[in-house]
Amino acid sequence: MSFAELWESLLPIGRDPGTGGYRRFSWTDADRRCRDWFVRAATCRGLPVEHDHDGNLWAWWDTVPQGGVSRTGAVAAGSHLDSVPDGGAFDGPLGIVSAFAAIDSLRARGFVPARPVAVVAFTEEEGARFGVACLGSRLLTGAVAAGTARGLRDCAGVTLAEAMAAAGARPDRLGPDDDLPRRVAAYVELHIEQGRQLAALDAVIGVGEGIWPHGRWRFDFSGRADHAGTTALADRRDPMLPFAVTVLAARQAAGHHGALATFGKLSVVPGGVNAIGSAAHAWLDARAPDDGILERMTGEITAAADRAGAEHGVTVTVTRESFSPAVEFDPALRARAEAALARRAIKAARVRTGAGHDAGVLAARIPTAMLFVRNPSGVSHAPGEHADPADCATGVAALAAVLGELAGT
Ligand code: GLV
Ligand code: MN
Ligand code: MN
Repeated sequence: MSFAELWESLLPIGRDPGTGGYRRFSWTDADRRCRDWFVRAATCRGLPVEHDHDGNLWAWWDTVPQGGVSRTGAVAAGSHLDSVPDGGAFDGPLGIVSAFAAIDSLRARGFVPARPVAVVAFTEEEGARFGVACLGSRLLTGAVAAGTARGLRDCAGVTLAEAMAAAGARPDRLGPDDDLPRRVAAYVELHIEQGRQLAALDAVIGVGEGIWPHGRWRFDFSGRADHAGTTALADRRDPMLPFAVTVLAARQAAGHHGALATFGKLSVVPGGVNAIGSAAHAWLDARAPDDGILERMTGEITAAADRAGAEHGVTVTVTRESFSPAVEFDPALRARAEAALARRAIKAARVRTGAGHDAGVLAARIPTAMLFVRNPSGVSHAPGEHADPADCATGVAALAAVLGELAGT
């Protein structure tokens, strides 16, 4: 199956016909179909599939025949198949389809790996259902405790444990793989670029230098429900007013600090058009060039929310739901990747990103690197996300070059 065939076979899964965006949330039916797709892609290549304890899928190109296989010192490549609500087709899947295609290309040229090569699909990378980004890799590395993860709830109140059990998976087995550094020597994630740095640098491929620190904070504004047509303005305790002030404060603080702050999700309770809400729950996504700036910025946003809450008689509670510190990708692995690309005459630019990735989480335990494929519009986390087929082909060639370098003798 060629890259195009693999890509086409994944495209219909979880796509909303109305918006054209993807709704591939973990442990749902769309997620099950994505997992089935992964198993088919692996099986038709003769790659045995392993389901790890944390819901992640691994397809193995073993160096010795099945039976006495010792999967140590492997080189893994992959990404994720889940999406944000109405996400694009490329964020995640491009890394997995490219990894399978890179293996095809290495095999076609007769390459024999000296160490195992794996394609991995991490679960719940976007945190779109259970709120914690990179949940599968965080569980694997012990960055999130299994008990905490089991209790995470989606917006309908379903826990991760319940969702996994309903999907036929085993939440009781969640937990870290302490053997990960022995089993996997390096992880390389190819990803569509989320921004326009590469287009400006006239490069198709980027090599990741690092990831900005970032996190998610839930802001709960508790006021008092009342009648929209009869309650005097002075008598209101409307949670939407401090929320609105906080959104503007976030924008101002981000501009001031050269950082990013976004409220992209809001839930107003009970949600009547002709009623003042009793509460508003909103989620802040904040990212900054360094940990200190991120802390100062979120501190300022929280202070603005508290002040506005006091002014409007609304109680404000802020909870950090997930956090990823700054990441520098492994310099030695990066250098080997760049050398492998140069040998194949693939021009690559160095890029630093504000987007989170499993490679950033795994970097705490094993050497990781990232390759980016140019995205001409820069649009991501939206249906308009796109990379040109010729650039995707260069991405596969780049990944094959890097895997060949790392898994060769
Ligand atoms: C993942 O794409 C993120 O940066 O939120
Ligand atoms: Mn994403
Ligand atoms: Mn992604």
